[in-house]
Amino acid sequence: MIIGELKKILITGGAGFIGSHVVRRFVNRYPDYHIFNLDCLTYAGNLENLKDIEKRSNYTFIKGDINDVEFISGLFKEFNFDSIIHLAAESHVDRSITDPLAFVKTNVIGTMNLLNVAKDSWGKNFRDKRFYHVSTDEVYGSLGEKGLFTELTPYAPNSPYSASKASSDHFVRAYGETYGLPYIVSNCSNNYGPNHFPEKLIPLFINNIINNKPLPVYGDGNYTRDWLFVEDHAIAIDLVFHKGKKNETYNIGGFNEWKNIDLVRLLCSQMDEKLDRPKGTSEKLITFVKDRPGHDLRYAIDSSKINEELQWKPSVTFPEGLKKTIDWYLKNQEWLNNVTSGDYLDYYKEQYEI
Ligand code: NAD
Ligand code: DAU
Repeated sequence: MIIGELKKILITGGAGFIGSHVVRRFVNRYPDYHIFNLDCLTYAGNLENLKDIEKRSNYTFIKGDINDVEFISGLFKEFNFDSIIHLAAESHVDRSITDPLAFVKTNVIGTMNLLNVAKDSWGKNFRDKRFYHVSTDEVYGSLGEKGLFTELTPYAPNSPYSASKASSDHFVRAYGETYGLPYIVSNCSNNYGPNHFPEKLIPLFINNIINNKPLPVYGDGNYTRDWLFVEDHAIAIDLVFHKGKKNETYNIGGFNEWKNIDLVRLLCSQMDEKLDRPKGTSEKLITFVKDRPGHDLRYAIDSSKINEELQWKPSVTFPEGLKKTIDWYLKNQEWLNNVTSGDYLDYYKEQYEI
C-alpha cells in the first residue's frame, strides 16, 4: 500500500484506554485512511491494547513524545498529516494532585507543541485540515444536585488535571481565533470499558474484587458521575471528526448518572454472579476512606447538541456495558496482571495506604 495516496490521520495517545478504541475504529472503518498512532507509552499506554490491528497495512505505531518538538516537526515533514485527533494526556485526577507539573507538561505544553507544529507545517493552507482536541467535562467544574453541563457552561476547573485540560482547550480555541487553525473540541463524561487502566474507579474495583482486596470509596460515596461505554465515545469521536462543525465544541455524555456508592453496589452484585460467589460477598469489601481533595460533587452532560446535529446517542445501556466490561477483565487477567505489577504497586501503596 502506498501511504502517499491515503488520507493521513495522526492520532496521539492511541495506546491508552480511549485512544486504542478510537484507533481500532478508524483502522477498521476507513481503509482509505492511514492511521499513525503517536504515543510515548507512559504507564497508561499499552500496545497490548492494539494487538488485533497492529499488522494492518493502514496502521503505523510511532513511539514518541508530544513534548519532543523536533521529533514531531520531523514527523509532520515526513508524513504531511491531513488531520490530528489529539488524545495523549495525563488523565488521572489523583495523580494530578500529587504531581501537578507533569499534567502541565503533557496536557498544556504538549498540546501547545502540537498546535505550533501543525500551524507551522500546514502553513496558511488550512483547507480540509482539522485539529481535533479530545477533552473532558471536568473543565466545567462541579454541579450541585441539579442541572447539566452544556457547551455554554463557563469553565471552572477544580483539580490540577481539569485545570490543565481547560488550559489546553483555551489554547486550541485561541489558535483558531488567532491563526485560523481549524479545530474542533469535544468534552466527554466518564468512560468505562475494556482496556481501562486499573487506577480509575471501575477497573480498580473489578481488580480488587477479583483479588478480595478492600474497595476504597472516597468520602461518603455520594459523588455522581455520568458514565459512557468507551466504544460509544469512539463512535461519537468518529462522527464529530467527520461531521462536526469547524471551530465548535460538542459535549458527549451517557445520560447515565450514578452515585459512586450505588454504582459500586451494582458492580459488586454483578461480580458476585460472575465469580459464582454468594450474594453480598463483594459488598463486604467496601471501605470508606479519606476523601479526594477538591472532589467534584457531580458531573452530568447535556448531549442535546451532538444528538440533534449528528444523531448520536449511546448504544449500550449501563448494566449491559458493565457486564461486557467485567467479562473483558475476567477473560483478560493476564493483561490485568501485567499492568498491576511493578510501578503500580508503589502507586497503590502511596495512594491508599490500605
Ligand atoms: P489514558 O491515560 O488511558 O491514555 C493516555 C495515553 O497518552 C497513553 O497511551 C499515554 O502513553 C499517552 N501519553 C501520555 N503522555 C504522552 C506524551 N507526552 N506523548 C505521547 N503520548 C503520551 O487516557 P484516556 O482515559 O484514554 O484519555 C484519553 C483522552 O481523553 C485524554 O485527553 C483525557 O483527558 C480525555 N478524556 C478521558 C475520559 C475518561 O473517562 N477516561 C473522559 C473524557 C475525556
Ligand atoms: O469526567 C471525565 C473524567 O473522568 C476524565 O476526564 C478523567 O480522565 C477520568 O479519569 C475520569 O475522572 P474521575 O475523577 O471522575 O474518575 P475516577 O475513576 O478517578 O473516579 C470516579 C469517581 O470515583 C470519583 O468521584 C472518585 C471516586 N473514586 C475513585 C477512585 C479511583 C473512589 O471513590 N475511589 C477510588 O479509589
